[in-house]
Amino acid sequence: TRPLKVALLGCGVVGSEVTRIMTTHADDLAARIGAPVELAGIAVRRPDRVREGVPAELITTDATALVKRGDIDVVIEVIGGIEPARTLITTAFEHGASVVSANKALVAADGAALHAAAESNGADLYYEAAVAGAIPLVRPLRESLAGDKINRVMGIVNGTTNFILDRMASTGAGYSEALDEATALGYAEADPTADVEGFDAAAKAAILAGIAFHTRVTIDDVHREGLTEVTAADIASAQRMGCTVKLLAICERAADGASVTARVHPAMIPLTHPLASVREAYNAVFVEADAAGQLMFYGPGAGGAPTASAVLGDLVAVCRNKLAGATGPGESAYTALPVSPMGEV
Ligand code: HSE
Repeated sequence: TRPLKVALLGCGVVGSEVTRIMTTHADDLAARIGAPVELAGIAVRRPDRVREGVPAELITTDATALVKRGDIDVVIEVIGGIEPARTLITTAFEHGASVVSANKALVAADGAALHAAAESNGADLYYEAAVAGAIPLVRPLRESLAGDKINRVMGIVNGTTNFILDRMASTGAGYSEALDEATALGYAEADPTADVEGFDAAAKAAILAGIAFHTRVTIDDVHREGLTEVTAADIASAQRMGCTVKLLAICERAADGASVTARVHPAMIPLTHPLASVREAYNAVFVEADAAGQLMFYGPGAGGAPTASAVLGDLVAVCRNKLAGATGPGESAYTALPVSPMGEV
């Protein structure tokens, strides 16, 4: 069988891990897929940066030329952000490649158009790594539970803020002290706005709501409150009531089934609730479905290796689809259930 050719866009923390696993687990991946997979090129912005274990001859700064080569079967996009990722992904579809992306901002902003572009080119778009790192959520919701009716998806989908709230609850620290600790440990970015203002969680909520309810939800549809206003006193008073505070993403179907809502905000939850025991930077997502009942998905929601695990899982699925001449669930599997403003549920 001819090898499947893979182009990698981005070689930072996640991309380096993807390269490492593709290289060290090449035989296993070939066995899972039914054909060898070959890294054909790695597009980076800074070619001089030393990347251990990354074959130098594969490095290029011309991502556009790489996706236009015409012999690429799968493009893995781990650049993040809207542009140039969106144009590169669309170009990849037009040149016959399927795409595996870890880009939550892009999928949450423009998922419908990207899915449509994939479908019109007979290509796949998979993005398990965009939501909660290693935790399988996108494919369980989109595929394993496709025969059930999901009513609610609720959880902790941002590790940085969970770490901050956990520290505030366990040590009595104030918000900025806990944020400093999260920064020092490498959880929070130098600019933690996307985490602490809830944008990161809102993007993930939009993606989860879209796949859980088979509709299209964008980040603009998600009501969002971050945790910058949560004080040590708020946490202490929650604790006196047998509760803790978590930043939750909550996606719900209206009782009449006619619309959906998605929101992100700090919430008091009883210490007896399983989400209360999610410590440090872990993520956990509760899913309630008609037939399945209550499910909980738990694990590391960020980091190079966990995120690479999700990317590689998607790579195997997309390669299998390619070999079978098939594609996974696409845009036409979606209906247009309206997204209603928060508060109507
Ligand atoms: N900043 C994110 C988090 C990383 O803290 O969960 C993964 O999206």
